[in-house]
Amino acid sequence: MKNIIVLVSGGGTNLQALIDAQNRGEIENGRITCVISSKEGAYALERAKNNGIKGIVLPRKNFTDNRSYSIALLELLNAENADVIVYAGFMTILDECVCNAYPYKMVNVHPALIPSFCGKGYYGLRVHDEVLKRGVKVTGATVHFVTSECDGGPIILQKAVEVRKDDTPETLQRRVMEQAEWKILPMAVSMLCAGKIEIKDNIAFVNEDK
Ligand code: GAR
Repeated sequence: MKNIIVLVSGGGTNLQALIDAQNRGEIENGRITCVISSKEGAYALERAKNNGIKGIVLPRKNFTDNRSYSIALLELLNAENADVIVYAGFMTILDECVCNAYPYKMVNVHPALIPSFCGKGYYGLRVHDEVLKRGVKVTGATVHFVTSECDGGPIILQKAVEVRKDDTPETLQRRVMEQAEWKILPMAVSMLCAGKIEIKDNIAFVNEDK
């Protein structure tokens, strides 16, 4: 059984999707052992508590720079014997010392179809705002490996979602979560724990035969 550590900063609906999938027996060969929040009072911590999962707060605001925060977080991940690390609405960009310590073990869910609407400055509602401003007709979500390049790691799963004429950033965010993020994040985490993801030439492939 792999130890899954979930990193959060906010409401934690993606954490909830992982917990629900786990409770339905859909996370093969893994269990959520710890939730780490970069913000005090994040509702995601309540969700962890309600499900008997250990919650730890490591506030970003207590650290002067990225590097010192990343070193503290890395120590915590090592102490928790992390096997798989999930960014689930984790809004802190980390120093590469963290992803380099866990190559192809860290995944992120991004609320758009990478390589569109991603990279520095594209997070949360801002992504959906930009999607609406650009007038694209299809958006979606992506689960990818975390590397030193922001939103640039190998793509594991993607799911498309229709943009509607009357969408606001809020309605679009909700639909992208419901139709895409909450589905593909648990699937990708399960496949990773079960050893079903292979990397060749920096491209991720799902091997269902494993
Ligand atoms: C989600 O839409 C997630 O994809 C996004 O923030 C939201 C967090 O919601 N993450 C990013 O934009 C990261 N670049 P949640 O706390 O309810 O899971």
